[in-house]
Amino acid sequence: TSVLVLNGPNLNLLGIRQPDIYGATTLPEVEQMCRSHGAAGGFDVTCAQSNHEGALVDAIHAAKGVHNGIVLNAGAYTHTSIALHDAILSTEMPVVELHLSNIHAREAFRHRSYIAPVAIGMICGFGVAGYSLALDALIGHLGGRT
Ligand code: DQA
Repeated sequence: TSVLVLNGPNLNLLGIRQPDIYGATTLPEVEQMCRSHGAAGGFDVTCAQSNHEGALVDAIHAAKGVHNGIVLNAGAYTHTSIALHDAILSTEMPVVELHLSNIHAREAFRHRSYIAPVAIGMICGFGVAGYSLALDALIGHLGGRT
């Protein structure tokens, strides 16, 4: 089983950006944690990040036939991107939506997600621990052993 962990805009600044909200762990540390979690659970994890909406669409397309599912933190595009919504629909890739922060406890503009209606489910509010939770949820959905 192979999973893509895909992070969107500004998540390259994890650990530096608003640490009160997003924590002190950097993106390379999160990605290493995801790969270790995969290795421990017997599945492959590939990580990617882009600040560009179209590049994220391309990454979802490219995941088809290569990975079995995606853990997606689409960052602010969560709240705006019909293109990402359509990319998930178009590829029929199983997606677990992830947010470090509890988007429902924040500004109203973060309450709507265009990813949610096309995701298996969402994990939010648990900081970087959410990545492991999302991986386990995805593997469970895919019929894996975790
Ligand atoms: C985020 C929440 C989004 O609202 C925000 O734009 C982000 C990060 C999160 O992980 O909590 O960039 O997706």
